Amino acid sequence: MCGIVSAIAQRNIVPVLVEGLKRLEYRGYDSCGIAVLANGAARRARSVARVEDLAAQVKNAGFAGSIGLAHTRWATHGAPVTDNAHPIFSRETVALVHNGIIENHEALRNNLSAQGYTFVSQTDSEVIAHLIHSLLPGKNLVNAVRAAVQQLHGAFAIAVFNSAEPHCIVGARHGSPLVIGVGDDAHFLASDAIALVSETERFIFLEDGDIAELTVDAAHITDSNNARVEREMRVLAAIHQASALGPYQHFMQKEIFAQPRALADTISERDSFLPVCFGGHAPSVFERIDRVLILACGSSYYAGLTAKYWLESIAALPTQVEIASEYRYRDSVPHPDTLVIAISQSGETADTLAALKHAQALGHIHTLAICNAATSALVRQTALSFLTDAGVEIGVASTKAFTTQLAALFVLTVTLGKLRARVPSSTEDIYRQRLRHLPVALNRVLALEPNLIAWADTFASKENALFLGRGMHYPIALEGALKLKEISYIHAEAYPAGELKHGPLALVTDAMPVVAIAPNDALLEKLKSNLHEVRARGGQLYVLAEPDTQIESDAGVHAMRMPEHEGPLSPLLHVVALQLLAYHTARARGTDIDKPRNLAKSVTVE
Ligand code: M6R
Repeated sequence: MCGIVSAIAQRNIVPVLVEGLKRLEYRGYDSCGIAVLANGAARRARSVARVEDLAAQVKNAGFAGSIGLAHTRWATHGAPVTDNAHPIFSRETVALVHNGIIENHEALRNNLSAQGYTFVSQTDSEVIAHLIHSLLPGKNLVNAVRAAVQQLHGAFAIAVFNSAEPHCIVGARHGSPLVIGVGDDAHFLASDAIALVSETERFIFLEDGDIAELTVDAAHITDSNNARVEREMRVLAAIHQASALGPYQHFMQKEIFAQPRALADTISERDSFLPVCFGGHAPSVFERIDRVLILACGSSYYAGLTAKYWLESIAALPTQVEIASEYRYRDSVPHPDTLVIAISQSGETADTLAALKHAQALGHIHTLAICNAATSALVRQTALSFLTDAGVEIGVASTKAFTTQLAALFVLTVTLGKLRARVPSSTEDIYRQRLRHLPVALNRVLALEPNLIAWADTFASKENALFLGRGMHYPIALEGALKLKEISYIHAEAYPAGELKHGPLALVTDAMPVVAIAPNDALLEKLKSNLHEVRARGGQLYVLAEPDTQIESDAGVHAMRMPEHEGPLSPLLHVVALQLLAYHTARARGTDIDKPRNLAKSVTVE
């Protein structure tokens, strides 16, 4: 989604802005822009092409200055055209970049038009620029921003400069992330710390309602009550390493191969299955709850669907899993003893946050975030939290964040199962051993890469694919289909294999590759019957077959021998094979794997 970079320094900050935008490209965008203040005048360049094009424009035009703003825009209000790209100007005085959505923009637009402001874009953001400008008489920039944000409804992070105040930039956040970077004789603002890693390792994460006035040598922050506050400064050294590609072709590939380590980090010191791993109040909360409601979007939703199988069979907890964007708008029946779990890699997904708040408004008080971002809004909004240790995930297609979510959910399941006397200590030991063995098992799946590249070469020329799974592997089939869709643009659908004959079998011809997940579990024979139905219609089967399943390659059957059966953790192995299949298919098709078209890494708007 949209990205913000802003800087004030005792040097030319244009290279900082360009570099920051390049680092934000992974989030997805369809236009970009830069504005600098030089000799009292604001200059601006915008592009509906890539950041590279913008960089060439500012270089050719000789942009330089010690105060500036930059933005990548993912269109919501108004098409991705130059006029709608940020920075947005108000009367050549106020320059602004904005992430989020202003819900009352129409009413504000009408008021400002009546005051004589001319709107040149279709964006909701333009009202903020004009509103701040309209409030400037008698006020300095920071006070005008403070007065303006009080009139805004919705979610926003903004960075602003005023050409009449060439010593400061101002940032404000409400519902969208904004972080200050502290440099040497320099301060920065960004929507994501990763934008600033080439400049600093010192970051101050703003809270909702904060307004920050940045000068070269100081950062003054006030909270929503206009009280001066000091926010903790964090040193994030590891973030620099995360932003380097190393020997890999794409971040997605790097992140697929980071999974053994990410899982080991996530499990480490948590496999004693103690409630306190989920927060100080977790022991008393977990004693009380007798059902679970999971809210999430995309891959995080599929992690939740997988967990439903675990929570009901291992912990005997009735579990409901809801797509956040649906749950937030439907009538539902709250139950006071429900544990509401919000799952999100970013912790900033607007629908998941809104669904959680909706659940809280309905009276749910037992809330848990499973999240990969410690400072995110989601973690702040819940009573309990479990932070996955996936590290920064840059590829838009989620990989290591997904498998670490699964690990977190499995730890939760066993913890709750123990409390409910459903997991005897001998079984707990087996689960612990299985978890500890996961990184090794995952490495064996990663070693299948050459075989999956061979499959991918065939898939690359297809336009459709079907994914089949049963039981807890059905959500993994959904995840495999999502991975293939989002990065290769091949149309893919997933079904529980038993559903084939109720409709989708009509699609099966010899041109249709059908991927089947075949774990050696209680449903194996049922699955084999479903696979016969596919073969009988000429469908080409690609089967991830575990040992002793007696599924072998044959005419129309391509069997990949999975290394081992990991009991309830088997979904984590199969999904890694499907990630590699999607990755290499997309690579063979030459798509923009880390930044697939139309998609954003963190979906901070509805
Ligand atoms: O940050 P979140 O986990 O809340 O994101 C949810 C989805 O937007 C995300 O999983 C999306 O589906 C990914 N692109 C999947 O690869």
